Amino acid sequence: MAINFSQLKKLNEGKTKVIYENPDDPKTVYMRFKDDITAGDGAKHDIIEGKALIDWQTNRDIFEYLNRCGVQTHYISSPEEKVSVVKKLDQKINLEVVSRRVATGSILHWGNAVEGTRYDPPITQFHYKDDPLHDPLLDEKYVEFIIAKKNGWEYRKMVEFNVEVFLHLERAFAHFNIQLVDMKLEYGIIDGDVYLIDEITGGSFRLWPYAKENPDLNQANVLSELDSKGRLDKDTYRMGETLDKVFSKFAVIANITKNFKDLKVN
Ligand SMILES: Nc1ncnc2c1ncn2[C@@H]1O[C@H](COP(=O)(O)OP(=O)(O)OP(=O)(O)O)[C@@H](O)[C@H]1O
Ligand SMILES: [Mg+2]
Repeated sequence: MAINFSQLKKLNEGKTKVIYENPDDPKTVYMRFKDDITAGDGAKHDIIEGKALIDWQTNRDIFEYLNRCGVQTHYISSPEEKVSVVKKLDQKINLEVVSRRVATGSILHWGNAVEGTRYDPPITQFHYKDDPLHDPLLDEKYVEFIIAKKNGWEYRKMVEFNVEVFLHLERAFAHFNIQLVDMKLEYGIIDGDVYLIDEITGGSFRLWPYAKENPDLNQANVLSELDSKGRLDKDTYRMGETLDKVFSKFAVIANITKNFKDLKVN
């Protein structure tokens, strides 16, 4: 039977999802995807009909894969289209945790990185979540200090989880000749521990197809090995492509992640 959301209490509504209480289980909530797409911390905003369904599929297939890999995530199940059940957050951690394998995007502007530089292991950066302030970056030295001197176990776990998740997803996309370039994740506290929460969809990462059959991805700069113009992710939207084109790229991602269920995990 379909869930009647008009009768459920809305706990939170963000740019891309609505969170509803689950009257049958106070330890979980419903996460319902919306057709909205935003960029520039909400400055650019559109509705793409059908995007909620595509995002829900991508998110479901990625989280089910990560759960199989043994990552501690909030994801439980997807009882109907556009709706997932997740463990309810006890405490939000107001950070976006970014991992980068290949330098591109904002790091080229505020850092001195050369596009295509390969980071090994992937680097992790924390951004304080605040749209009006454009999600400022936390100083790396400060994070190191918190971990080393202030028992910042949550930060340590987030770094560990972020790299772990990055490597699992990088390996998964590699089966489809695609490089996971970078990625943004969110975490929260559930039952006193750090959990991967929120969503992983086309807006969470950059995906660049391989430019050739057997790319050499173990060099200092991998730009020539990758087809950045063939990008599948939300950069298409940021760069002003038509909404139809953006939708078709997100659909390609969902068509890839639907195969994650067949991947072996180790
Ligand atoms: N397991 C969870 N339990 C409760 N709330 C959650 C859970 N996972 C994610 N949320 C919350 O769902 C809300 C809606 O998500 P959405 O991504 O639409 O928000 P947003 O506009 O991006 O805002 P935010 O900057 O808070 O993420 C967010 O506040 C997010 O923290
Ligand atoms: Mg969000």
